[in-house]
Amino acid sequence: MDRIVIEGGNRLIGEVKISGAKNAALPLMAASILTEENNTLHNVPDLKDIDTFKKLLLHLGAAIEGGKNTIRICTKDIKNYEAPYELVKTMRASVLVLGPLLARFKKVKVSLPGGCAIGARPINLHLAALEKMGAEVTIEHGYVTASAGRLKGTKIYFDIPTVTGTENIMMAACLADGRTILENAACEPEVVELANMLNKMGACIEDAGTDVITIEGVKGLKAAEYTIMPDRIEAGTFMVAAGITQGNILIKDCPLQHLDALTLKLKEVGVEIKSENSGVRVIGNYPVGSVDIKTLPHPGFPTDMQAQIMAMMSIASGLSVITENVFENRFMHVAELRRMGADIKIEGKSAIVRGRPFLSGAPVMATDLRASASLILAGIAAHGITEVSRVYHLDRGYERIDEKMKKLGANIKKVKA
Ligand code: UD1
Repeated sequence: MDRIVIEGGNRLIGEVKISGAKNAALPLMAASILTEENNTLHNVPDLKDIDTFKKLLLHLGAAIEGGKNTIRICTKDIKNYEAPYELVKTMRASVLVLGPLLARFKKVKVSLPGGCAIGARPINLHLAALEKMGAEVTIEHGYVTASAGRLKGTKIYFDIPTVTGTENIMMAACLADGRTILENAACEPEVVELANMLNKMGACIEDAGTDVITIEGVKGLKAAEYTIMPDRIEAGTFMVAAGITQGNILIKDCPLQHLDALTLKLKEVGVEIKSENSGVRVIGNYPVGSVDIKTLPHPGFPTDMQAQIMAMMSIASGLSVITENVFENRFMHVAELRRMGADIKIEGKSAIVRGRPFLSGAPVMATDLRASASLILAGIAAHGITEVSRVYHLDRGYERIDEKMKKLGANIKKVKA
């Protein structure tokens, strides 16, 4: 198994360019299923999760042309309506084909994702919404099967604001009969990105980015060309990298407008963040202050940044309480950070982090995507050598993070198995 080996202690200084957003690219690829015409996407990140979604589209019968960052998706010849377990188990976002396949082909079969390292993550809200729109949904042998005539627009209330749930139903509602209103919808920027793309394809979606989204169904959608926004979580990870190493990083293509909660918290602990003509400059200072954080749906503090900020609070000058409100089991990185000397106690949904003067390098194991990033950050700041194993999680969501960190001055290398 590949590992990442880091000798910590270097300040990160220089420039880094942020790649396209994984969590925007995946639903935009799924949206291509809604039209017979060919969609073109630019700034697609070169990631394992994108490869998995391409595999899924090919499995359905789509054709994909293009290179690493620009792809053209042709779904005219789709003749298979099933997302198999092998693909869904490697990437939960595969469930994003549920809404579009059902809307266009009136039937779909998708493997139930099952739990994962950060929680149970059911899709009950996706399914209840589709049922409300007239679909017949059954669960058998680990698969969800849904069929419908033309879906019917209706009012849907999500008990929890679910990101992929909102995206799935928004896509399905584009081809439904009449008006669909999504209440308590997710407000994440990736939802807005999908709505913008769908509107370019001829859909009629209003107020994406608020918690009430209205979709007026249309007869059909046409092709669109779209450039995917930069990844806010990748950008946030590099902001923390500057903070944790007292570095000075110019982040190019940094979607600062989507990072308010993180920016405010970083400023509170003494990190300087300023917009310049060519990007956002982030300067870390000593000592790192401490701050309490509660993860919440957007515009709250993103759960996808919780593990990274915890690495930084491990070397802060005081005590921080980090509360995880979105997923029930997202503290798998705590035990690994403890192996590096962090003083962290878990009490229910909260991690109480008592900052230490330094972390010490150790062999650690990545448990999920963002936990991997947290361990890389901890390793870069730590004294001595850290070896992070199971780094395949990183390739799912960060485009060449080791190379980008190295260019900024980190002593980091990927060691092939
Ligand atoms: C998306 C992101 C992920 C991020 C998460 C929260 C993608 C591909 N992934 O995941 O990176 O961490 O949003 O910002 O965009 N829930 C239910 N029933 C459902 C659906 C969700 O109970 O039917 C619960 C989940 O278990 C979780 C909460 O709702 O506790 C939010 O999950 P959700 O927003 O759906 O996360 P994802 O869309 O899977």
